[in-house]
Amino acid sequence: MSKWALVLTSVLSSLYLSNAYKILLVSPFPGKSHSILAEGVLNHLSRAGHEVTYVAAIVPDKPIKGVTVIDISDYVRMPTHLIDLKSIMDNTQRRDVLDILPSMMNLSRNVTNNVAVQTLLSDKTQQFDVVIAEWVFSDVYAGFSGVFNCPLIWFSPVEPHWMILQLVDEIPNPSYTVDILSGNVPPLTFSQRLMELAVQSIGKLIKMFYISGVHQEIYVKHFVPHIRNRGYPVPPFDELKYNASLVLSNSHVSMGIATRLPPNYIPIGGYHIDPVAKPLPKELQKIVDDAKYGFIYFSMGSNLRSKQFPTEVKQDLLNMFGELKQTVLWKFEEDLPNRPSNVHILKWAPQQSILAHEKCLLFITHGGLLSTTESIHFGVPTIGIPVFADQFVNVARSVKKGYAKKVDLSYTMAKDLKVAIQEMINDTRYMKKIKELSFIYHHRTVSPGQELVHWVEHVIKTGGARHLRTHAATTPWYQKVYLDLAIVLLIIIVAIKYLFGYMCFSNGKKVLANYKKKQN
Ligand SMILES: *[C@@H]1O[C@H](CO)[C@@H](O)[C@H](O)[C@H]1NC(C)=O
Repeated sequence: MSKWALVLTSVLSSLYLSNAYKILLVSPFPGKSHSILAEGVLNHLSRAGHEVTYVAAIVPDKPIKGVTVIDISDYVRMPTHLIDLKSIMDNTQRRDVLDILPSMMNLSRNVTNNVAVQTLLSDKTQQFDVVIAEWVFSDVYAGFSGVFNCPLIWFSPVEPHWMILQLVDEIPNPSYTVDILSGNVPPLTFSQRLMELAVQSIGKLIKMFYISGVHQEIYVKHFVPHIRNRGYPVPPFDELKYNASLVLSNSHVSMGIATRLPPNYIPIGGYHIDPVAKPLPKELQKIVDDAKYGFIYFSMGSNLRSKQFPTEVKQDLLNMFGELKQTVLWKFEEDLPNRPSNVHILKWAPQQSILAHEKCLLFITHGGLLSTTESIHFGVPTIGIPVFADQFVNVARSVKKGYAKKVDLSYTMAKDLKVAIQEMINDTRYMKKIKELSFIYHHRTVSPGQELVHWVEHVIKTGGARHLRTHAATTPWYQKVYLDLAIVLLIIIVAIKYLFGYMCFSNGKKVLANYKKKQN
């Protein structure tokens, strides 16, 4: 009997295990919003019964079932000098791509060259069915799929942009698709089109002459020895980086701009949001329930510190909020003295549950993509104060879509904010617009979480989903623009011209000969 029980359990467990895959998730960027996104991926995969090894720049607070954490938090640092509010306001800090890229290249080095990751790579007992790697300005994590000889999925934290599309398809036309650090929204004007063209061209040059070299160096130093050690053929890095099966993208057309996407680009924006909002802490619940005129929620996100606002700006903001009849919740790291009675400071804010409350009228945000997603998910109009990275383009899009206003980060922002708040609270169009978009956002065939799990499993079950790949990525540019045809045509034209010329000439000679004969 016990023998039969054993057989039965082993049959059952093998049935169960046959659906459990081993997945490696690499989340290199040490920003809070990036770790929220990564943990969203973990939660869905773990609930589907898979085992995930998580290379984590920020370690989860609580252990997640089926998840093994490879802690790299000691090796990676947030480039905090790039996001200091005060230095940004004082204009003492440049924040364009030329500042971001070297930081990102350093990050790539540190993520791959550390004891934790090198131990994982050299451990020959480690096998994975798929690698999911977050793409933040670095292709180098494709190396993981080389070492584990398995398919690769890119995870993109932002709206579709040319740098990631070129890895799985081709560079989109800059006359109607904008760069991730741009503040433009199509349709573009003449000068905006020029700007996007320039950004793409310069970006390509930087990639060719700087980034590729760094990636190549990291690949050869920190991945290739492990590929050799496992006895796999060593592919050229370019082959690996253009070989991804899929992009899972934290985006959705309700938040972004409709873009032509290849079949292996899957938008799953909103998957990190719990379908049912958690209850608010009691004290906070009472504050918002009692808000007779509704409430406004103000948060600069998880990376920026409101603390860094200059003192006079903080005071102006407090005074201005105090003049409103609405209740204000301000996510701030420390209590503020002389706080008006309608302003409440939250050191920690359960943002999703706050936005889910029916009395939430307005969300003042830095315009990060998670906050933008959540405002659409819960249908709350926004005032955007963009500071960094994709926040400018996110806010520009929200404004263009008609549910938001933009206020510049400046010493006079309290005054500008007040004007924007008054207008948005008194005009129902903003609320109406966000409710429309919220409907579009929710009106999908399946939830984004289900979509995520489906496509990861699809890649594994089909051995890399090669059928989803377009030939755009592998067709050489000269073939795309038919340069070869142009050359063939040119040769034909030249040949015809030559032949024709020769015939005319020999004809002419004959005529001349005849003429001469007659003369004689
Ligand atoms: C490219 O991907 C496919 C499918 O995932 C895989 O079979 C192949 O080995 C990969 N090629 C390289 C060079 O890694």
